[in-house]
Amino acid sequence: MCGIVGYIGDQVAAPLLIEGLTRLEYRGYDSAGIAVLSPPHKAGAGDAEPTVTTVRRVGRVRDLAAALPKRLTGTAGIGHTRWATHGPATEHNAHPHRSEDGRISLVHNGIIDNAAQIRAKLEADGVTLTSDTDTEVIAHLVARSSAPTLEGAVLDALARIDGTYAIAVLDTHHPDRILVARNGSPLILGVGEREMFVASDVSALIRHTTSVIRLDDGELATVTARGYRTFTRESEDTGRVPVEIDLAADDLELGGHRHFMHKEILEQPDAVAAALRGRLDERFGTARLDGLNLGPRELRSFRRVKILGCGSAYYVGQIGAAMIEELARIPADAEPASEFRYRNPIIEPDTLYVVVSQSGETADTAFAVQEVKRKGGQVIGVVNVVGSTIAREVDGGVYLHAGPEIAVASTKALTNMAVAFAMLALLLGRVRDLSVSDGQRIIAGLRRLPDQIRAILADEASIEKTARELATAQSLFFIGRVRGYPVAREGAQKLKEVSYIHAEAYQTSELKHGPLALINPAMPTVALIPDDELTDRNLAAGEQILARRGPLVAVTHPRVDLSALDTAEHPVPAIVVPKNEPELDPILLTIPLQLLAYHAALALGHDIDKPRNLAKSVTVE
Ligand code: AGP
Repeated sequence: MCGIVGYIGDQVAAPLLIEGLTRLEYRGYDSAGIAVLSPPHKAGAGDAEPTVTTVRRVGRVRDLAAALPKRLTGTAGIGHTRWATHGPATEHNAHPHRSEDGRISLVHNGIIDNAAQIRAKLEADGVTLTSDTDTEVIAHLVARSSAPTLEGAVLDALARIDGTYAIAVLDTHHPDRILVARNGSPLILGVGEREMFVASDVSALIRHTTSVIRLDDGELATVTARGYRTFTRESEDTGRVPVEIDLAADDLELGGHRHFMHKEILEQPDAVAAALRGRLDERFGTARLDGLNLGPRELRSFRRVKILGCGSAYYVGQIGAAMIEELARIPADAEPASEFRYRNPIIEPDTLYVVVSQSGETADTAFAVQEVKRKGGQVIGVVNVVGSTIAREVDGGVYLHAGPEIAVASTKALTNMAVAFAMLALLLGRVRDLSVSDGQRIIAGLRRLPDQIRAILADEASIEKTARELATAQSLFFIGRVRGYPVAREGAQKLKEVSYIHAEAYQTSELKHGPLALINPAMPTVALIPDDELTDRNLAAGEQILARRGPLVAVTHPRVDLSALDTAEHPVPAIVVPKNEPELDPILLTIPLQLLAYHAALALGHDIDKPRNLAKSVTVE
């Protein structure tokens, strides 16, 4: 949700800023801009100040790159790729924003809650604002501070704003530095040889350095070509030292794939194997999740589990809650973190709170963590990005080990979330009444997953054929019941995100209580019909749909007999998924729905990795 970059060193800044913004484009992609400090024009102009060249464009980073002047040789600059919150995607609203005198240039990720009041005050003081954004006011506040240093001026400005921010500031009066500050939006420093980088996440700087500092909320840093100083809003040094990150630059490349979404779908067998590695204990039929920081006695003490996440992470949370109820027999449910945080939730001492997030930066989920902690609750994280905000705020957790996920539509991280929940359910079950043999049954099932996912992916051509047919529809149903319902919700979500086809998920059992009225030949239904205790009920619902001439696609298991549905008159395409243990089946049933969404979007010619209006990491409320 907006990406920011900065560079100061000996190299020409503009290409490095563009490269960083390209890597951060998944965070927002409606407009982009850079500001570069250039040395004074006249040679030997002793104490003349540098000038700032600012270029902003609506559209993608490639449009910005094409618009840059040939000679942009400055070696310090900042850049931004935007996901609009205040004001439409226009050049005026694109960052960097400037003070009236051109001295201060600033990029921002986050939301300033009291921007309207500050705007009114600035306008009353005669300042002409040139954008609709909340960000611009910060540039004016910094420029209007009477503090003699840039650090002092930024601190003055921050004292007047409420909200979330990661900012990077250039000042022509202090051209040797970039000033950065963080509160609620991620910000990272990259330490190089006689050069420093600033970025919203490590993907922007991984090609140049693996030595990073993740700033904390309330922290600022002065960044120069020779180093950095981190400090608090009270100007006390925080003395942060860099850590090495374990990430290969190649992980961030397409590697011959047309889209990251496709690459990430195909990576799932390896991603699942990585999530399981070293965490399964066959002998005792349990899982080893040391990062939870919870011993058996504590694990036994919980009487309820509450899972919190947003969007698809919430749907996987529902899959996880079902696993926990089935294997551990503890009441468990999932709730959107975006709602939980606003309803003054009751935090119970014997409830284990579990937050789930790929990015570890989702603002609503991070606020839910704070709400639980503020009220004395115990919260663990199921998170992909190591060292992310949520990963650092929770009391313990399980990393997903899915590797970097670039496509806005999440696939492999979601699958690994479900795998992590299965291991958590196993562990919670084994400290209660789950038998060793049942534990070993689940472990054997988990071990089968990578090969079974490979088998589903091998069926891609036929799933693509079905997807092309579905892509002509205006609207679709996804139906499933009990374990299958969150799978249906995720299938509908994935299709909506990348194909823009309206899709709605329903419990199969609820169809006859209303939505059946919508069934007609133009309204296909993707029905989850697993081989389980509800197969007959699901088949009966399929017949009801066909009786109303609704097209049906079955996502099913090898032993399910579809002959009552699949007739010459009404052929029913079937996507047959390998059978696993019933508790783990939702993990596999989700995979073909990812391919359905991908190929429908491909058939419709959409920008699959960057769907309209969305961003990968939702760091605003
Ligand atoms: C998934 O395809 C979506 N892009 C979205 O619903 C996402 O899962 C949600 O925003 C949560 O993101 P997180 O996992 O990074 O917290």
